[in-house]
Amino acid sequence: MLKSSVFAILLVFALFVHGQDQSGFISLDCGLPRNESYKETSGTDINYISDAPFIKTGISNSIAPEYKAYFQDQLFHLRSFPDGIRNCYRVNVTRGTRYLIRASFLHGNYDGQNTVPQFDLHLGANFWATVKDYKVNLSNSKEIIHVPLQDYVRVCLVNTGSGTPFISALEFRPLRNDTYVITSGSLALTFRFDMGSNNDVVYRYPTDVFDRMWEPYTENEWTQLNTSRVVNPSKNYQPPSVVMMTAAMPKNGSSRVDMHWNALDPRTGIVGDEFYVYMHFAELQELETNEFRAFDIAFNGDVWYEGFVPDSSQEITISKTSPSISTDGKYNFSLIQLENSTLPPIINAFEVFSRMDTSQSETDQDDVEAITNIRSNYGMKRNWDGDPCVPVSFMWEGLNCSNDGFDLPRIISLNLSSSGLTGEITPYISKLTMIQSLDLSNNSLTGSVPDFLSKLPNLRILNLEKNNLTGSVPVELIERSKSGSLSLSVGQNVYLCASDSCNKKKKSNPLIPISASIGALVVLLIAVAILVAVLIRRKQAVMLVSAFVNAKSYNQNDPFESRKRQFTYAEVTKITNNFEKVLGKGGSALVYYGLIDDSTPVAVKMLSLPSVQGNRNSQLENDTKQEHNYQQFLAEVKLLMTVYHGNLTSLVGYCNEGTNMGLIYEYMANGDLESHLSGKKANVLSWEARLRIAIDAAQGLEYLHDGCKPPIIHRDVKTANILLTENFRAKLADFGLSRFFANDGSTHISTIHIAGTPGYLDPDITNNSWLNEKSDVFSYGVVLLQIITSRPAICRTDDENPHISQWVRFTLVNGDITSIVDPRLEGNFEINSVSNAVKIAMACVSLTSNLRPGMSQVVTELKNCLAEELSAGSNYSSAIHESTSRIEFISLES
Ligand SMILES: *[C@@H]1O[C@H](CO)[C@@H](O)[C@H](O)[C@H]1NC(C)=O
Ligand SMILES: *[C@@H]1O[C@H](CO)[C@@H](O)[C@H](O)[C@H]1NC(C)=O
Ligand SMILES: *[C@@H]1O[C@H](CO)[C@@H](O)[C@H](O)[C@H]1NC(C)=O
Ligand SMILES: *[C@@H]1O[C@H](CO)[C@@H](O)[C@H](O)[C@H]1NC(C)=O
Ligand SMILES: *[C@@H]1O[C@H](CO)[C@@H](O)[C@H](O)[C@H]1NC(C)=O
Ligand SMILES: *[C@@H]1O[C@H](CO)[C@@H](O)[C@H](O)[C@H]1NC(C)=O
Ligand SMILES: *[C@@H]1O[C@H](CO)[C@@H](O)[C@H](O)[C@H]1NC(C)=O
Ligand SMILES: *[C@@H]1O[C@H](CO)[C@@H](O)[C@H](O)[C@H]1NC(C)=O
Ligand SMILES: *[C@@H]1O[C@H](CO)[C@@H](O)[C@H](O)[C@H]1NC(C)=O
Repeated sequence: MLKSSVFAILLVFALFVHGQDQSGFISLDCGLPRNESYKETSGTDINYISDAPFIKTGISNSIAPEYKAYFQDQLFHLRSFPDGIRNCYRVNVTRGTRYLIRASFLHGNYDGQNTVPQFDLHLGANFWATVKDYKVNLSNSKEIIHVPLQDYVRVCLVNTGSGTPFISALEFRPLRNDTYVITSGSLALTFRFDMGSNNDVVYRYPTDVFDRMWEPYTENEWTQLNTSRVVNPSKNYQPPSVVMMTAAMPKNGSSRVDMHWNALDPRTGIVGDEFYVYMHFAELQELETNEFRAFDIAFNGDVWYEGFVPDSSQEITISKTSPSISTDGKYNFSLIQLENSTLPPIINAFEVFSRMDTSQSETDQDDVEAITNIRSNYGMKRNWDGDPCVPVSFMWEGLNCSNDGFDLPRIISLNLSSSGLTGEITPYISKLTMIQSLDLSNNSLTGSVPDFLSKLPNLRILNLEKNNLTGSVPVELIERSKSGSLSLSVGQNVYLCASDSCNKKKKSNPLIPISASIGALVVLLIAVAILVAVLIRRKQAVMLVSAFVNAKSYNQNDPFESRKRQFTYAEVTKITNNFEKVLGKGGSALVYYGLIDDSTPVAVKMLSLPSVQGNRNSQLENDTKQEHNYQQFLAEVKLLMTVYHGNLTSLVGYCNEGTNMGLIYEYMANGDLESHLSGKKANVLSWEARLRIAIDAAQGLEYLHDGCKPPIIHRDVKTANILLTENFRAKLADFGLSRFFANDGSTHISTIHIAGTPGYLDPDITNNSWLNEKSDVFSYGVVLLQIITSRPAICRTDDENPHISQWVRFTLVNGDITSIVDPRLEGNFEINSVSNAVKIAMACVSLTSNLRPGMSQVVTELKNCLAEELSAGSNYSSAIHESTSRIEFISLES
């Protein structure tokens, strides 16, 4: 029976120094006095620093001196947490890096009680481990391999009523991104053994460049095989040579090595129901010509890996990206000698992890920053620690959060009533962009009611009663209150005027941010002037748009700069060499190739605004409608002027002369995605190229949704609107204008406000979801399915399952993932990468809009798909991954 991973660090040898530096290491000696640091003296030379900057709570302590001789320096101090239920470290990390995170505990009778507490450890919002079953004089550690999705990681100690939590050291070690890759979740270490070693040495850094700790392990039925020859470590996993130079081998003619443990046995402390094993092998014997070593690896009696032959020149790691699962909690891995093998099996090193669910994400970073700033602004003494929203049982008092499991949790309600707040209403509140309910009543707040409160798009309840606010309530708040969209309470503020009339007298509100630059205003004014002129002339076809694009190259102080963005018809004729080359056609608009200054290629779209048809009698009504549209259009133009992102096509100018109207865009050399997927082009996009395109487009959309305030809804996301540069990077086109322009013949416009293309249209109209981001997410999901399958959104020859999402769902029930992938890829893709992309796409096309993920989550997940694809393609020689061709659907479509 394998023992659990409780060990004493008795001796650590640093025999084989590789000269690897400690770059990326974060080594905190918990409880070390602030500003102190040192280099470990026992041979590792690791530089430890005080944990004080990373945590606000807890008390520094030291272990009893008699224990010091047995342990490394980083365990001499510890930080204990007599106060508070949950105390958290917040450590800055590099997001997306795979980290080994290790928390170490040595009680060392620091408190004279000679007894150890039991407590829980959380990684962010997720349970990590219970620290229990250890001794006062033994060190204990918990280790996890985890890829943070945010710029920081929280490690929290939770008092569960069985003693005061404490921690001795907290270490972060970056690992290679092509090792320890699993389909989902993180890896909590069960044990890591240096097999067949019969000394007491635990090897770690610098012997192990990643500072993994290898414990010696052997059993009575085994004998040791060893060599003095240095074993070359593999390029990716790199288990230390000294660990690889010993192996366990069965004694006395036996033909098998059994390694088994029981996950349901509380005495071993081994928990988990899905295990991942990593076996490291190297041949240590000098084989004679008639000698041969080969064995099968079996898991609970079934062949897990067939016919393995250790290599004498290099270490080989055997692992799978999917877990080994046992229903009765018994895990039994056996190495079984093959019949034609003359030598018994061996194993040099063995790692076992259990899968830890880390799916609960922490709160949106902007919200966390905002609420933290609000707390410090008001000097609040509340016991607010850790993440504000999650885990739900530790949600900060006074907050309420959204937490649908897909998007990051967001703060939607803040109640600071009767909290003794003084000073003004802090602008940090404006950063809580999802807030629906804000209660600041019964405090001593002074100053005016800031205008930003009326800019919070989701605010439904605002209570400012019983303060000492002055001035007047912003008109917009009063209007929203009158229209019933806001419940506004401002009573018992003696000096506050809450009627429209006071606003008229006090016109200038000093709090309105002067954000629009003069240059931008001029552009806008020109746009308005053109609009009005066109309107008056009652032209049927109208075009006008101006948006400057690259904020950096734009001189905001020069009002004439904007004129350069306006081109005359003569100039457009010259640019396009008399409309020589047609790039494409969309509806009534033709797109031409052009060159500005004979050097910068552009695409010139000559187009018309949909006219309102009707007889003379309804002409007046039409004018009113048109004017309404122009107002909305103006608002849109205003927005687009603030938009710039590398994954959005730039609008470089416009032309407006009578009926000659055009938009000038940057030129995209490789045309649109649709033509590449439909097979009109000769080249077949590889899976990696497709993933990059998918990520680019998703990032463009993410920017429109999350980076623009208010969010911009594209409303016509489709493959034809994803354009490709000469390097096949993708940019979204026609954003923000699709509600005003029909882009091509297939565009369906049921009212002037709903634009879209059949097949991409959000079916969930119950929620008016075509008004929000989630309808773009649906369309994006369709695009992603097309990227995977190269099928049209709607296949008119398929009566049963015309829509691509129906077809994918139908086909997956009857076949595996490869049956939906574009056959032109000829199997050249990492199956896990594709199946995860399918999962994301299917979540996006959920029929119910609130089950769809947000674009930022889509971006994150797609990047993981790309990582999987890249790491699989890099080097199969020393790591053999299993490919699962089975796909489990998360039950989104219930
Ligand atoms: C730590 O160092 C900073 C700056 O070097 C200094 O301001 C601070 O007083 C020091 N704190 C302690 C506890 O020595
Ligand atoms: C972590 O990063 C944040 C934001 O970049 C910064 O404000 C903070 O000081 C950093 N914390 C530490 C301990 O370096
Ligand atoms: C730890 O304490 C136990 C008794 O509780 C003792 O038997 C053992 O020798 C001690 N080990 C060390 C390393 O001090
Ligand atoms: C290597 O193996 C031999 C034979 O089993 C044994 O006598 C020797 O002690 C081993 N060397 C080490 C360093 O363990
Ligand atoms: C070798 O195995 C045989 C039978 O399995 C047993 O009788 C014998 O005692 C074993 N010898 C040693 C040295 O373990
Ligand atoms: C482990 O599995 C092998 C078959 O692969 C079986 O012979 C052996 O008895 C099992 N050991 C335990 C302890 O279950
Ligand atoms: C040993 O047997 C296995 C099948 O059991 C076979 O695949 C392998 O090629 C054989 N190896 C040698 C060297 O004969
Ligand atoms: C309220 O504000 C007024 C004017 O700013 C001030 O005179 C008064 O003392 C304040 N009252 C309280 C209770 O803060
Ligand atoms: C993995 O890391 C290597 C180098 O450290 C880097 O070049 C590569 O882009 C990374 N792959 C991913 C998918 O992040």
